[in-house]
Amino acid sequence: MGSSVFAVLLFVFLLLLHQPLFSTANFHQTSLRRPEAVSKDAPLKDTPPTLYFEVTKPIKLPNTKPCSYKILQHDFGYTYSKPPVLANYTPPSHCPFQNFSKIVLEWNATCKGRQYDRIFGVWLGGVELLRSCTAEPRAAGIVWSVEKDITRYYSLLMKNQTLAVYLGNVVDSTYTGVYHVRITIHFYPSEEELNIYGSNSDNSASRYHSPADLILPFSRNLPLNDGLWFEIENFTDVASKEFSVPQNAYRALLEVYVSFHENDEFWYGNLPNDYIEANNLTDTPGNGPFREVVVTLDGEVVGAISPFTVVYTGGINPLLWRPITGIGSFNLPSYNIEITPFLGMILDGKDHVFRFSVTNALNVWYVDANLHLWLDKKSTKIEGELLKHISLPLALSEVSNFTGLDGSFLTDARRSVSSSGWVKSSLGNITTNWIQNFHYSNSMQMESNGNLQIVNQIIHFNDIVEAKMSSSSIYSTKSHKKFTFYFSYEELDQGNGTYFSQEKVTLGFNERDSTAIGLELSKSSLKNVQNAQGHMAVKNNLVVSGLGSTQQVYKYDGSHFCYVRNVSSSNYTMLYDEVGNTCYGQRQSYTDLGLSTQLAW
Ligand SMILES: *[C@@H]1O[C@H](CO)[C@@H](O)[C@H](O)[C@H]1NC(C)=O
Ligand SMILES: *[C@@H]1O[C@H](CO)[C@@H](O)[C@H](O)[C@H]1NC(C)=O
Ligand SMILES: *[C@@H]1O[C@H](CO)[C@@H](O)[C@H](O)[C@H]1NC(C)=O
Ligand SMILES: *[C@@H]1O[C@H](CO)[C@@H](O)[C@H](O)[C@H]1NC(C)=O
Ligand SMILES: *[C@@H]1O[C@H](CO)[C@@H](O)[C@H](O)[C@H]1NC(C)=O
Ligand SMILES: *[C@@H]1O[C@H](CO)[C@@H](O)[C@H](O)[C@H]1NC(C)=O
Ligand SMILES: *[C@@H]1O[C@H](CO)[C@@H](O)[C@H](O)[C@H]1NC(C)=O
Ligand SMILES: *[C@@H]1O[C@H](CO)[C@@H](O)[C@H](O)[C@H]1NC(C)=O
Ligand SMILES: *[C@@H]1O[C@H](CO)[C@@H](O)[C@H](O)[C@H]1NC(C)=O
Ligand SMILES: *[C@@H]1O[C@H](CO)[C@@H](O)[C@H](O)[C@H]1NC(C)=O
Repeated sequence: MGSSVFAVLLFVFLLLLHQPLFSTANFHQTSLRRPEAVSKDAPLKDTPPTLYFEVTKPIKLPNTKPCSYKILQHDFGYTYSKPPVLANYTPPSHCPFQNFSKIVLEWNATCKGRQYDRIFGVWLGGVELLRSCTAEPRAAGIVWSVEKDITRYYSLLMKNQTLAVYLGNVVDSTYTGVYHVRITIHFYPSEEELNIYGSNSDNSASRYHSPADLILPFSRNLPLNDGLWFEIENFTDVASKEFSVPQNAYRALLEVYVSFHENDEFWYGNLPNDYIEANNLTDTPGNGPFREVVVTLDGEVVGAISPFTVVYTGGINPLLWRPITGIGSFNLPSYNIEITPFLGMILDGKDHVFRFSVTNALNVWYVDANLHLWLDKKSTKIEGELLKHISLPLALSEVSNFTGLDGSFLTDARRSVSSSGWVKSSLGNITTNWIQNFHYSNSMQMESNGNLQIVNQIIHFNDIVEAKMSSSSIYSTKSHKKFTFYFSYEELDQGNGTYFSQEKVTLGFNERDSTAIGLELSKSSLKNVQNAQGHMAVKNNLVVSGLGSTQQVYKYDGSHFCYVRNVSSSNYTMLYDEVGNTCYGQRQSYTDLGLSTQLAW
């Protein structure tokens, strides 16, 4: 690696784990395309490390001083295929106060040199707290930090646990980047005398404000030489785990973490198998662009997740994500499945089983889950019954129209799961209705003899939970998510080991939420959209020149606060960064957004 004052080679990498090389956007070509970006970097000396960041709203904190302590400090050198890094976690019993109302995990890391982006997970007692991707370093070094509100894991955090962090990194004479990591937890005391569970924990509505009393992990057990997540290798592969719940659980919520890698890292751009076969393509990830994560309980489908298209920090064109990283890449979203209606099936003290699979999956998906349980302190055994459960099969339509390497492909998918059940506890006889549905559509075009690929994908993903006693509502929440993904990727092969490519990406994560707890109604809306443009020249898998630019507008409008950020970067440099806290006027109603699903029970 030659370097001079003016041109320090900067190597950036796509890829997460296992196989160093596999195709990215244009798939009919041979087994590219994980280029390392080598671009002109600033001189090494006197250059401070670049701060990378994901745009997100600040965590709303109480106006109190936290009790903070470091729970792990580790240098992730050659950690690939080694056991997760472990540490003993002890609860904050030494803190001068115990009335916590907010708990925040802070991940701080630095790295320098040359390294791939790496997926990593943080688990406490087998319960996943954070799924994230590292930033790719540059020669002069980078620094980044991720903050996550982990208050919902309160009960877990109040006990001794084993902390596990898996970040599979490879360090050798070429890939020199060691990830220096520090994890800190900040415990914020409440502004009131109450702790998180409130003063009036017998009140059924207020219990819906509180974190779960118990969290069961659905992850793999130690010792292991990789992450605690399950690895789902194909569409027939199923991850499963048996469990039993305490017989006084009156509410249950399954939180599912997913990430996709290798042949399915860009699943939303995968081509249909008929196209691949007709063109005799090898090393081209197929199965079309539709994926969903399906969860069953004792064989019944209880939820189906249409995941957000997270682009990792080396994805598509690594130069796009410096220093503004892709939406969700530093803090992957997890997805909720309401299990309360099914409690009647599992309150018998016996073993039951959750199974996880991914429709159309190629190697590899990392999936695990946490079951959050709320327990009735005044009873050791309560009863319930599943009244209704409708799980319609996936409706999938795939239309291919191609001649040779050019053509168009339309994929459309819908799925809906709904259930209703009652649980009678000391809080009363509460009936919970649950609906989860999505509508997925993907339109893909191949042009210029397969050298230009254009993908346009929209996902509408809805969840509705409604808990009521007699006719009065105790708790209800409606969430409408709209995930948009557009990209165009064009490649010109120079036939001498060099190719030029051009990329355009639009990534959108929009969400409308409305939650009513008793008489208290809160609404929020988020519009988070990134546009990015890049080009690169790649020679023998090294990006010899290139440029990436990104613009992002993040608008959050909530009942308690608003947050707006409008940022842009190009060639590692911030062009503008405007932060505001003004609310953006009228919120659309749910019916405007096509959330017409009615609770008709
Ligand atoms: C983590 O890094 C941020 C800046 O990225 C800094 O403000 C913060 O103090 C750091 N936290 C710790 C615990 O070092
Ligand atoms: C938790 O761990 C600490 C430190 O190792 C130990 O002193 C304490 O006894 C443990 N508490 C329980 C409840 O096991
Ligand atoms: C939280 O606990 C601390 C220490 O016990 C106390 O000083 C503080 O007043 C409490 N918060 C409130 C607002 O009660
Ligand atoms: C799917 O993966 C599982 C687990 O590795 C393997 O046993 C099975 O043979 C695979 N099935 C197909 C169709 O490739
Ligand atoms: C694919 O391979 C088959 C069998 O070798 C051959 O007949 C066909 O012409 C090939 N098609 C293309 C598009 O290369
Ligand atoms: C298939 O694509 C061709 C070329 O774009 C177009 O002329 C034709 O109408 C398409 N056929 C269908 C069924 O959409
Ligand atoms: C609870 O309410 C449901 C729905 O109203 C009813 O069917 C069920 O019998 C009730 N259960 C008990 C134990 O009262
Ligand atoms: C390959 O061809 C391109 C375009 O003709 C040219 O710009 C480049 O210098 C060539 N590279 C090599 C390694 O010969
Ligand atoms: C973001 O900032 C840029 C530059 O100041 C401006 O042109 C653009 O209109 C802004 N966008 C929004 C949505 O505020
Ligand atoms: C990117 O910035 C570097 C200096 O940091 C400069 O040398 C290079 O020319 C810039 N690239 C483009 C395409 O503007």
